[in-house]
Amino acid sequence: MKISWDIDLGGMNTFRMRVRCRCLVEYDNVEELRDALSDPSLPRPLFPIGGGSNLLFTKDFPGTVLHGTIKGIKKLDSGRVYAGAGVVWDDFCAWCADNDLWGPENLSYIPGEVGASAVQNIGAYGREVCELISSVECVDTRDAAAISIPAADCRYAYRDSIFKKEWKGRYIVTGVIFKVSETPDPVLDYGHVREAVIERFGAGALEKLTPAMVRETVTAIRKTKLPDVADLGSAGSFFRNPYVSKEIFESIRNIAETEGLGPVPHFDVGEGLVKVPAAWLIDKCGWKGRANGGAAVYEKQPLVIVNRSGEASPEDVVSLAARVQASVKEKFGANLEREVEYV
Ligand code: EPU
Repeated sequence: MKISWDIDLGGMNTFRMRVRCRCLVEYDNVEELRDALSDPSLPRPLFPIGGGSNLLFTKDFPGTVLHGTIKGIKKLDSGRVYAGAGVVWDDFCAWCADNDLWGPENLSYIPGEVGASAVQNIGAYGREVCELISSVECVDTRDAAAISIPAADCRYAYRDSIFKKEWKGRYIVTGVIFKVSETPDPVLDYGHVREAVIERFGAGALEKLTPAMVRETVTAIRKTKLPDVADLGSAGSFFRNPYVSKEIFESIRNIAETEGLGPVPHFDVGEGLVKVPAAWLIDKCGWKGRANGGAAVYEKQPLVIVNRSGEASPEDVVSLAARVQASVKEKFGANLEREVEYV
């Protein structure tokens, strides 16, 4: 376990916010994490981070940031793979593809680490990670006990889990056991994934499909639409796609028709609710590419806020996000919820 004091967190969050924390603890195994949790000399509060890819540090952090780097990927049996919470998510996707195991290929190239994937319930191209999770290995911050939580108890929903709600702050994820498949299990129905596979690998591609082929295709699609956090700071989707009532949806449709905005992309999610892409709403409010200080709405995918100058302040991002939310509410009556956590 490594303990450091008064540390710049700029390299530990994908938004590259140059805030400081009073104390930083880096641990690379469960025992070290348990020791840290039981150490009264570490300033509180304690805040666990992985790749720092879904958060915005809004100010200096007065307590201890716990940064886990638990590595390791292990095949447990023909249908299950364990990965440490600190494994880079895309490395896990690559490992599965290299070993001809189906499961995470549609989730390739999402920034962040394995531990956060199970908290956020990351999703893309028709797959949500909760469909692949068997159990989440955690340490309880109350008594430092290790516990394995079955996926059924994690209350997974769209970009949501019990770790973001009732159990927020209670458990720190140390590893995840995934369900994978040796027999082909492709998910190609979302957007243009199927067409993109055929375009890339030829007409007969679907008969000899491998997870590596799907991974390569999805990675290429993402690269055209989303900023690479290695070049441009961001936290991926800044907002969730809102679920609106049928009434609000009809009103959005009317506005689109009156203003000639074209058809409104949407997805009926049942229970009288309709999912409307935040990207479309933000785009039609004219935000694409607009800046606020060093921060900007990304030109190619307005769901993403980027640290365009490389030196955006937390306030630049916070006020830009608030302005975007207010304008979508005013024009379309829809509430955009943040996906990114403010710390
Ligand atoms: N759109 C516009 N204008 C634009 C861009 C997109 O109107 O400039 C419209 C498109 O026409 C499309 C719609 O927005 O109909 C949705 O776009 P897309 O399917 O590309 O993405 P999304 O639904 O907005 C979600 C995830 C992404 C994930 C993609 C692909 C959320 C919050 N985001 O975005 O996740 O990669 O689907 O499956 O659910 C992330 O979490 O960091 C992330 C990027």
